[in-house]
Amino acid sequence: MLIVKDVSVSFQDVQVLDHVCLQVKNGEFISLIGTSGCGKSTLLNVLSGALKPQSGNFAIDGVTIEGMSHHFAYMPQNDLLLPWYTIMENVTLYGKIHHRQKETMQKASQAFEVFGLTGYEHAYPFELSGGMRQRAAFLRTALCDADILLLDEPFGALDVITRNDMQDWIVQMRKQWNKTTILVTHDIDEALYLSDRILILKGRPAHIVKEISLGGIEKDRDWLDEQSELRKNIRNLLRGQADA
Ligand SMILES: Nc1ncnc2c1ncn2[C@@H]1O[C@H](COP(=O)(O)OP(=O)(O)O)[C@@H](O)[C@H]1O
Ligand SMILES: [Mg+2]
Repeated sequence: MLIVKDVSVSFQDVQVLDHVCLQVKNGEFISLIGTSGCGKSTLLNVLSGALKPQSGNFAIDGVTIEGMSHHFAYMPQNDLLLPWYTIMENVTLYGKIHHRQKETMQKASQAFEVFGLTGYEHAYPFELSGGMRQRAAFLRTALCDADILLLDEPFGALDVITRNDMQDWIVQMRKQWNKTTILVTHDIDEALYLSDRILILKGRPAHIVKEISLGGIEKDRDWLDEQSELRKNIRNLLRGQADA
């Protein structure tokens, strides 16, 4: 269980996050939605240890975490692959660091097809399109041995068809491999489809203004098509209108 308590962040004199509190159960998939610039990436930076909050703290299973920790695998918004490594070497980087490269390579080989990377195992990042590089970066994060995945708009640069394929793949993967995940997205449908819970971050400084629970629902694209009411409520909340 991850418990984030009263995390506040300011840059110079501007406060961005204001006493953000949230809890994520082990194996839970939550999405963080908010308008651009509201502080979503800032919150993930805090959790990953890249940024120290002015106040507040967070703990995993009761142990307070400070700085970088092995608990999180972070895919930042502008994730970069290492240009001097092949795609296979890039996606198995964490395995190599933890002396489990062979095992990680086996897992990676199985995932290349669904990630649309087949045939590019030995290519270098500059030979791939932007979308393919993003998928490779996502695969690298997914193959990391951490407890909690932090994904910052991982499908932002993908075309809608590839994006939907990746979302479907995540839904399938979760049935076997239930990693705790915090996904930052501005795509309401993506959040509805993938999450057990959606948290809406809002305001300047921002805090969590609403939680929508979707746990235990058997979802498919037909279910998603029927969620016009929820979609509308979230959109209105983000726009600043009253909760419908
Ligand atoms: N290192 C930084 N220094 C100064 N301001 C920053 C820094 N990082 C983010 N900000 C500001 O904090 C706000 C929140 O940024 P960010 O967390 O990236 O938003 P989001 O990911 O929700 O789009 C923005 O106004 C941004 O300009
Ligand atoms: Mg961001």
